[in-house]
Amino acid sequence: MTASGMTAHDRGLPRTSTVAVVGTGTMGQGIAQVALAAGHPVRLYDAAPGRAAQAAEAIAARLGRLVAKGALAAADRDAALGRLAPVDRLADLADTELAVEAILEELGAKQQLFTALESVVSDRCLLATNTSSLSVTAVAGALRRPGRLVGLHFFNPAPVLPLVEVVRGFATDPAAADRAYDTVAAWGKTPVRCADTPGFIVNRIARPFYAEAFRVYEEGGADPATIDAVLRESGGFRMGPFELTDLIGQDVNEAVTRSVWESLFHDPKFTPSLAQRRLVEAGLYGRKTGRGWYDHTEGAPRPRPHTAEPCDAPEKLALHGDPGPAAGLVPLIEEAGITLTREAGPGGFFELPDGTRLSLTDGSAATMDPFGPGIRFDLALDYRTAGRIALAPSETAAPEAVAAATGLFQALGKQVSVVGDLPGMIVGRTVAMLVDFATDAVARGVASAGDIDTAMRAGVNYPRGPLHWGRQLGAGWVRDVLENLHGACPTGRYAPSQALVRRAASEGKLL
Ligand SMILES: NC(=O)c1ccc[n+]([C@@H]2O[C@H](COP(=O)([O-])OP(=O)(O)OC[C@H]3O[C@@H](n4cnc5c(N)ncnc54)[C@H](O)[C@@H]3O)[C@@H](O)[C@H]2O)c1
Repeated sequence: MTASGMTAHDRGLPRTSTVAVVGTGTMGQGIAQVALAAGHPVRLYDAAPGRAAQAAEAIAARLGRLVAKGALAAADRDAALGRLAPVDRLADLADTELAVEAILEELGAKQQLFTALESVVSDRCLLATNTSSLSVTAVAGALRRPGRLVGLHFFNPAPVLPLVEVVRGFATDPAAADRAYDTVAAWGKTPVRCADTPGFIVNRIARPFYAEAFRVYEEGGADPATIDAVLRESGGFRMGPFELTDLIGQDVNEAVTRSVWESLFHDPKFTPSLAQRRLVEAGLYGRKTGRGWYDHTEGAPRPRPHTAEPCDAPEKLALHGDPGPAAGLVPLIEEAGITLTREAGPGGFFELPDGTRLSLTDGSAATMDPFGPGIRFDLALDYRTAGRIALAPSETAAPEAVAAATGLFQALGKQVSVVGDLPGMIVGRTVAMLVDFATDAVARGVASAGDIDTAMRAGVNYPRGPLHWGRQLGAGWVRDVLENLHGACPTGRYAPSQALVRRAASEGKLL
């Protein structure tokens, strides 16, 4: 509700307005179901003969299952089906006021369709494309009136997932984008506004979630099961990147990565993974082919994460300086009955009884530590609730020190995964990159900070919006991690964005 008392319901498309869905495959059916549930009459059109009628039957079957589960009243199902009409000709869409396109992902086909639609519908009709990777500006490029075309990027399955990215093409009339936004909000969805940039919000900012995990694997840091477990149990992500891409399909996920990378003129921050390319070349797409990173065939054993055997915890530790984002460990150590002495001065590390430094990853390898062979531990979303912590000992760390560090985290109730000494470890480098991508996207006008955090939570279930996460960690910490990673791997991939560098500098001044 705004000051004028108008709600999204009032500003969006009236419920009596007819919505057309063109292309009635997976997404078209889902979008049609959402528009029906919101009360609109819906027309279905598909180029393949009989496909629209099949889609209507599939939607009826889905609504029937909702009735059987008690999630929908039979009378509402009947009313919805009474408003649903498959049609055979584009001309039958003449009186629609919103036409959502969900045909194949091909620019020429989409341009042709919208050109044909434009000559059929009235000037009032809003046009929307559900493209996930094409430029909305290019899709509208062939139109007489490109101002009324917006991107409405629904996520699969559209009736279940709340997020819809409302994309303004270069020529999109702001009033058209507002109308589309209000309409999907009135449909009960969670719309976010974004500019027409490759990957929009989610498919742009999520890239490092996959890419960093694949890199840790490629560089021999850990195996997929361990990386997935660390990102789930320490990072708080619902699924790890290996299991998630097996679910999405390696072909689909890699195509998105390549498309964003190519659209951004091969920006090194978006470079795809060679290991994933090989999976795609081998036809190992994931669950749908029975194998991807994991073997999904019936009865195949699921690899388990590497988990350290029980070790003795040290009786005492010294904390030097400010532990920064690892401060949450301090009360846990004290609650576990381990004596913690505090030493003033620079540092930000725990000193084990043998003098070994145990420190939160800072984006550099433990082996490069100028103070001798140290041990790094990974970032956690919340050290209290984390079920697992990754440790990376330097190549010359004493086995007794590794055992003491392992025992320490075990005494705090965590499983421990000892991984290779890779800079930034697993959660640390992933989150630092997500924060940087999100900070950079705000600066470039891709979307507002609030919309980015909403999109990453509602669209891909992140446990915390990346900008919120960045504020908690401090931009200075994130910048330092990335600068150290950049030092270790100077390809440009890890160079912190100018926006992050500025944020870190101003953060210091604001203190
Ligand atoms: N599947 C997803 O997870 C997902 C998520 C978000 C967005 N998208 C986007 O949604 C769109 C549709 O994807 P999908 O997975 O539903 O595809 P799909 O293959 O399931 O369905 C596409 C349908 O479009 C029809 N079609 C093709 N050309 C047509 C034309 N010229 N006119 C009318 N109908 C035509 C086909 O017959 C088919 O029924 C694509 O742009 C895709 O990138 C897909």
